[in-house]
Amino acid sequence: MKQVNKVAIIGTGLIGASWTAFFLNKGFQVNAFDPAPDAEVNLNNRVRTYLLDLFELNEEKNTSSDAYISDTLKNLTFFNHLADAVIDADFIQENGPERIDLKKDLYTQLTQNCPKDTIIASSSSGLKISDIQNDCLYPERIVLGHPFNPPHLLPLVEIIGGEKTEQNYIQDAFEFYKLLGKKPILIQKEVKGHVANRLQSAIWREAFYLVSEGVCSAEDIDTAITNGPGLRWAIFGPYLNMQLANQHGFTAAMHHLGEPMSEWWADMKPYTLSEEKIDMLNAETQKFIQKLGDKNLQTLRDQALIKTLKMRKALDLP
Ligand SMILES: NC(=O)c1ccc[n+]([C@@H]2O[C@H](COP(=O)([O-])OP(=O)(O)OC[C@H]3O[C@@H](n4cnc5c(N)ncnc54)[C@H](O)[C@@H]3O)[C@@H](O)[C@H]2O)c1
Repeated sequence: MKQVNKVAIIGTGLIGASWTAFFLNKGFQVNAFDPAPDAEVNLNNRVRTYLLDLFELNEEKNTSSDAYISDTLKNLTFFNHLADAVIDADFIQENGPERIDLKKDLYTQLTQNCPKDTIIASSSSGLKISDIQNDCLYPERIVLGHPFNPPHLLPLVEIIGGEKTEQNYIQDAFEFYKLLGKKPILIQKEVKGHVANRLQSAIWREAFYLVSEGVCSAEDIDTAITNGPGLRWAIFGPYLNMQLANQHGFTAAMHHLGEPMSEWWADMKPYTLSEEKIDMLNAETQKFIQKLGDKNLQTLRDQALIKTLKMRKALDLP
């Protein structure tokens, strides 16, 4: 892979701003572009907050947080035109809105303006690269680089190419993210929603179904996850947890749990969203949020993530 000095961040909303902080913290020059009128100011504010998180995560500090932030921000340039942001970019992380028409148009423009061997990685949560890359110049370097929110903290990146992507670019993207301390996984087959979002949406489907059916409250669902399986999932995933679910290991656990679990699967119904259901689920969620008082949930989540990441590193968890 060619040497990467300059990373372009295209689309600087929630995910793009977080990626911006991540790449700045790794010492790259970052070019940013977003067509929204207040994008530059918003990006600046968000990146400052995220850099503070990264400063806190770093265990070998040799400067103050103020000095770190002002030094790091010197490497960030915001552009008002897409072409200027990507013309000399060595790696592009795209974070535009999750709409296939918009992404296709955006990729046509990106590939007309950036170097032909620059990898373009899409943060897309569910779109297939094969559907995005069709009308592009040099489509062989377009890959999925799907992060989990917030990307400046969460290590996972899901990687796969489309029908026109060349294997060497997929491998280069994998190695690049890995070198930067990310935990990339290589997906072998394009499926809607990739891997982690399919897992997550399986849980969400049941969480929404159970509340819609009056089985329990939104607060009960959150309590059940964060005080039960969620605590284990920050340590080991479903496979290692199944290995530990029986003193004789995975197969014995599957023999023990498999039959009842198959009955639960058969009992689970397809769930279709409607505006009415969304209003009801939102009302349930707001009831729970009100009980929490004036806590800033995003700050609380990110502070807890930083502590969890430190714990995972200290225990050398897989
Ligand atoms: N929100 C999440 O939890 C999450 C997690 C992982 C991946 N993603 C993916 O990341 C991408 C961005 O999601 P988000 O949550 O940051 O959305 P967002 O709405 O916060 O940000 C999208 C940004 O794209 C900008 N934009 C609009 N048109 C554009 C164009 N033509 N070129 C460049 N930028 C343009 C918008 O102004 C906005 O700032 C999506 O593909 C999404 O699926 C989201």
